[in-house]
Amino acid sequence: MVAASLACGAALAHAAGPAKPTRLGLCAACHGETGMAQVPGVPNLAGQKLDYLRDALKQYRDGRRNVPQMRAAIGPMSDADLDELARWFSAQAPSHQGNP
Ligand code: HEC
Repeated sequence: MVAASLACGAALAHAAGPAKPTRLGLCAACHGETGMAQVPGVPNLAGQKLDYLRDALKQYRDGRRNVPQMRAAIGPMSDADLDELARWFSAQAPSHQGNP
């Protein structure tokens, strides 16, 4: 039983396969490593459209969305860094974690 559920999870996680972004740790405390929010009031990012995520991140960085928590997390990241994070979260399957 354990093997079956692991295999299922692994298939989902590896299907789309972008490499883990080096800055993912900055986001995980609130959004979770796989984009399922860890904190009330924080949106899930898993499976969200790539373009939407990329635009949202640039809006926080450039101050067009003025949310202090997000601006602090992103800081002055480059477009390439934001792109990597957007790709990662977009490729995650929305799911419940750690729920055997
Ligand atoms: C301190 C908690 C916190 C951290 C850390 C954090 N976020 Fe957020 N994030 C939020 C909150 C709260 C919102 C909702 C803000 C709003 O209302 O616009 C949000 C919104 C977003 C959105 C927009 C979602 C949507 O549906 O519009 C994206 C994309 C995002 N975060 C990505 C990231 C990334 C990437 C990182 C790491 C660099 C990160 N966040 C770090 C709290 C956090």
